[in-house]
Order: sequence, then structure tokens, then C-alpha cells
Amino acid sequence: MKISVIGAGNVGATCADVCAQKELANEVVLLDIKENFAEGKALDMWQTAPINLFDSRTIGVTNDYARTADSEVVVITSGLPRKPGMSRDDLIQTNAKIVKSVTEQVIKYSPNAIIVVVANPLDVMTYTAFLTAKIDPNRVFGMAGILDTARYRAFLATELNVSPKDIQAVLMGGHGDTMVPLPRYTTVGGIPVTEMIDEERLEAIIQRTKVGGGEIVKLLGTSAWYAPGAAAAQMVEAIVRDQKRIFPVCAWLQGEYGMKDIYLGVPVKLGKAGIEEIIELQLNEKERAELEGSATAVREVMGVLDQMDLF
Ligand code: LAC
Repeated sequence: MKISVIGAGNVGATCADVCAQKELANEVVLLDIKENFAEGKALDMWQTAPINLFDSRTIGVTNDYARTADSEVVVITSGLPRKPGMSRDDLIQTNAKIVKSVTEQVIKYSPNAIIVVVANPLDVMTYTAFLTAKIDPNRVFGMAGILDTARYRAFLATELNVSPKDIQAVLMGGHGDTMVPLPRYTTVGGIPVTEMIDEERLEAIIQRTKVGGGEIVKLLGTSAWYAPGAAAAQMVEAIVRDQKRIFPVCAWLQGEYGMKDIYLGVPVKLGKAGIEEIIELQLNEKERAELEGSATAVREVMGVLDQMDLF
């Protein structure tokens, strides 16, 4: 079995590394456009195998998509990351063209693959990959919800001084500042979070989560990679191990939540077939209004993609 990760930058390399460490496939292929870059990173990863004790072969290639042939899952991380002061949406002009050309190559060599998109602006780059690949949308979806929920859970774990393992949460909407964390669906060891924290502190955590990516960009001068890479690898794991895990994922909506023809973060069941079910929560009025606001923000960026005339 083979997993390919396109883009050997920080996020792609972290994702490939986690996939190899977890032995999610016999081969983890890392591809980059920059000469010898993926080769170097993959070789360095392979040299951790005798230390960290894994068997997955990590293979780096420069633009050689033939080497990704017949991948079970392909993760697309290609594209520019954010710089300070940029929103994810500022990346669309460059990244839409990159994601389109990458997806063409991916699907040519792995027509049966499941594609996980990580490039930003996430929701619209997932849509770009879907328009290019022309495959069942249950096999093309995006990674954002696991990352955003992880940030929310990590902040809560710090604030409450509890294990992050015990915090479960759902977060919906686009991967932008309009994302919708859902306190009503947040628990700490099974206890509703609202019984563990006062409203004001919870609201501050929600606000911090919404701009959680930007917080890292400000600190580092570029966007995050450990959590995004690990989040993408967790999706790969759910697929290749057919775990039927419930995660928030950027999925193609066809009437769910009253929305149509849009990629947006919703809870889904992930397994061997990709998205095996979209779970529809009974949102209250406030939650629904927030989700609709987030969808409006995503549709605006979809409008920019339309104007680019790529399809
Ligand atoms: C972030 C980028 C990867 O949220 O979108 O860190």
C-alpha cells in the first residue's frame, strides 16, 4: 500500500513523517517541485527508522508523479503558506493554479485514490481539487476541522489543567476566522464543558481558536506545520485503517445543513471509502446563523475562483 504526500514543505514533510512513524503504508512517497528537496527530507526520515523503529519506506521524488502511481491516499499540501498580515484567502490566486495542476497529475496516476487537501484557502482549494479530479466528492475532501478542533481542545486543556485526551469537541464551518466552535458539543471526560468553565473564559478560548492559525503566523513569520501535518495524517490513518472515526472534515454539501454545492467543515464518518456519512446535527438558531455566516465567507472566495476562469 502506498500513501503520497505532495509538497515537501513543513506541513507535507510533517504529515509524511507521522504517516511513516505510524506505519500507515509500506511506502510513503513525498513529492516536491524543488530539485532534491523531497529526496533529502525522505532520506532523513528514513534514517530515523532504526531509531524510532518503523518499517514504512519514505521515498522522495522531484516532480515524478509516476512514482506516486496507485496511491491509496494522496495528501495535497502544495502551495504557498501565509506570511504575517495575510489572510488565507490572499493565497488563492497562486494556490488555485498549483492545486489544479497537482490534482491533474495525481488523478492521472492514481485514479482510485482518496484525495485529502491541505492547501489554503482550504475550503476553496478542496473545491478546486474536486473540480479538477472529477471524482466522487466522498473521495475528495479537506483537512481543517481536526486542526481547528485540536487548537480549541489544546487551549481548553491548558485552561482547565486537564489532559487533552479527555476533551472532545465539534467545530464546523470554513477554515477561516468565521469557523464555528460548538460549546454545546464540547465535553471534558464526558462532562459538558459549560459545567467546567465560565462563559467568559470559554468565549475567550473560542475567539483565540478562530484566529489560532494567525497566532502562529505572527510568532513564526509563516504558518504552522506540526498540528496541520499531524491532523492530515490522522485523516489518512482513519481511511487506511478503516476506522470509521468521526471528525470535522471539509466536505461537499448537497443539501445537508440546508446548503448545496459548497465545501464546508461538517462532522463526518471517515473510513476506507473516504467520507462514509455526513452527520447532521440539530443546530440551534445561533449556531445555524454562525454556520451560514461562515458559508457566506467561503462563497465569497469561491467567487474569486470563478473569476479566475480555470474551469
Ligand atoms: C493553519 C493553516 C495551516 O491554520 O491554515 O495553521
